[in-house]
Amino acid sequence: MTHASHSPHSSSEWHENGYDLARGLAAYTGSVLVDGIARVVAKHPDASIANAFNHKQVLCKLWARDELFNNAGPAYGRVVVLGGWYGVLPAMLLDDRRFTIDAIDSLDIDPAVEQVARTLNSGFGDRFRAVTADMYAIDYRSLKADLVVNTSCEHIADLGTWLGLVPSGTRVLLQSNDYFSEPSHINCVASLEEFQAKAGLSRVDFAGALQMKKYTRFMLIGTI
Ligand SMILES: C[S@@+](CC[C@H](N)C(=O)[O-])C[C@H]1O[C@@H](n2cnc3c(N)ncnc32)[C@H](O)[C@@H]1O
Repeated sequence: MTHASHSPHSSSEWHENGYDLARGLAAYTGSVLVDGIARVVAKHPDASIANAFNHKQVLCKLWARDELFNNAGPAYGRVVVLGGWYGVLPAMLLDDRRFTIDAIDSLDIDPAVEQVARTLNSGFGDRFRAVTADMYAIDYRSLKADLVVNTSCEHIADLGTWLGLVPSGTRVLLQSNDYFSEPSHINCVASLEEFQAKAGLSRVDFAGALQMKKYTRFMLIGTI
């Protein structure tokens, strides 16, 4: 028995298919976030949005969102996300009707991600802002953030030095992992205990580990 042969799709065909699929999913779900993904596929064809929104990334951020809700509640004035990449977590928070959040700022050192984050979050209007900035060079006092989020702790050289810049009493949500083999991960932790020791939070409302196939993700929610 022979199988029908399929001609290989070119990458531009895949891109067009991806756009059609994302638009269809946006129409079907009515999701502002999924509509944002369709816009990113159309406007920023070189952005790695499929990587940023793969199921592992989404699971880690759903976990963050649920435990934030469970342990710190639904209402925030200003949320600041550091190392925010394409702004997926801000989009997931703004998309979640359980939360009331005035505004989310997504800051990232890479200038290439700013416009993509804006496109992804365009449906949320002026409640979302993307800024290119080094998280070690920010005046955190002037930000007056209700909540500071960093799910990119494995990407920064010194967690303690960075946390030392954020005013004490600030509520934080932090994620890191033990995925040492990934070259861009310059500061992984081997365990939840090591993460807690490095962060040195004055109060911990949540500390947990999420087992993924190739690595474990760790999360702390608490106060500096
Ligand atoms: C690969 S991404 C995010 C991975 C993470 N698991 C997540 O989605 O939350 C890490 C981001 O951290 C950013 N980053 C690294 N060092 C930074 C710094 N000093 N200030 C701001 N952003 C930084 C990078 O540019 C990148 O966009």
